[in-house]
Amino acid sequence: MTEGAKASKRIARWWNLWFWVALLLTLTGVYFFFWFPSRDIGPVQPIYFSHRIHAGVKQINCRFCHPYVERGEHAGLPEVSKCFFCHKYIIPKHPQILKEKEHLDNGVPVPWVRIFFVPDFVKFRHLPHIRYGKLDCAECHGDVASMDRLRVNNFQMKFCIDCHKKKNAQLDCFLACHH
Ligand code: HEC
Ligand code: HEC
Ligand code: HEC
Ligand code: HEC
Repeated sequence: MTEGAKASKRIARWWNLWFWVALLLTLTGVYFFFWFPSRDIGPVQPIYFSHRIHAGVKQINCRFCHPYVERGEHAGLPEVSKCFFCHKYIIPKHPQILKEKEHLDNGVPVPWVRIFFVPDFVKFRHLPHIRYGKLDCAECHGDVASMDRLRVNNFQMKFCIDCHKKKNAQLDCFLACHH
């Protein structure tokens, strides 16, 4: 074999190696770019509402926006007008607030993507959990105050049972938790 042919063979071998390295890096990139965040960050909401900013940085109480958590059947999501207690004065020209303002003017509720729910046949009330069970929101919802977009967590029965066992709470599920 001539010197030239040997050299070009060596170059070809290097190219081969670099090709695989590049492919591996690209795939890792794609994996982190698409798959990783989609698992770790919740669904895109119609308005970019951030719990990290409101409940975390600005320390707004959960109950200000979810007032029925200890009263009604559901904790409830804040109505559009509640946002404007503050946003009438705070960053009123922010594009997301302008979008929210359209909902206020047209009287159309924001179609928030629901994150936490249990099936209809499950009876769940916040009140006994918070008041008598002395549980913090984070025990069931995670550290909401550190999240921009809440993560999906469709509660499974195991989640209820495990904690009820640990805390010596109601285990007679078919009487207590199911309609
Ligand atoms: C108790 C006051 C208060 C209420 C109620 C409130 N916000 Fe805010 N919001 C703030 C403050 C303070 C900031 C930070 C403003 C800044 O960065 O200067 C903010 C920031 C924002 C931002 C901009 C975030 C960014 O990326 O900079 C958006 C969007 C927003 N709020 C949406 C909402 C929506 C939607 C509601 C109603 C569900 C709401 N806010 C209710 C006080 C409030
Ligand atoms: C300024 C208002 C505001 C504050 C303060 C706030 N939230 Fe929210 N919360 C919202 C809005 C708006 C949504 C609907 C959009 C979303 O899911 O991000 C929501 C959604 C949620 C949901 C998911 C509801 C679903 O769709 O299943 C949970 C759980 C929740 N909040 C818990 C909390 C907790 C815990 C705190 C306190 C650490 C808190 N929130 C503070 C406005 C607020
Ligand atoms: C023992 C677990 C548990 C604790 C503690 C808890 N939650 Fe929930 N939360 C749930 C479950 C389960 C649902 C789904 C209920 C449903 O589908 O009816 C839910 C739903 C919600 C929702 C969705 C809206 C709604 O009305 O269903 C909000 C908002 C919420 N919780 C806020 C809070 C806040 C704020 C706290 C703390 C003050 C809190 N939760 C504490 C389990 C819990
Ligand atoms: C993190 C712990 C925890 C989780 C998760 C949890 N529970 Fe509970 N639950 C408790 C405790 C503690 C009590 C007892 C409160 C008391 O002493 O009355 C309780 C009480 C109850 C009761 C009896 C009070 C009432 O409402 O009449 C029901 C029903 C119930 N839980 C249903 C559920 C369901 C359904 C789920 C799952 C969606 C669930 N729980 C998840 C801790 C938990």
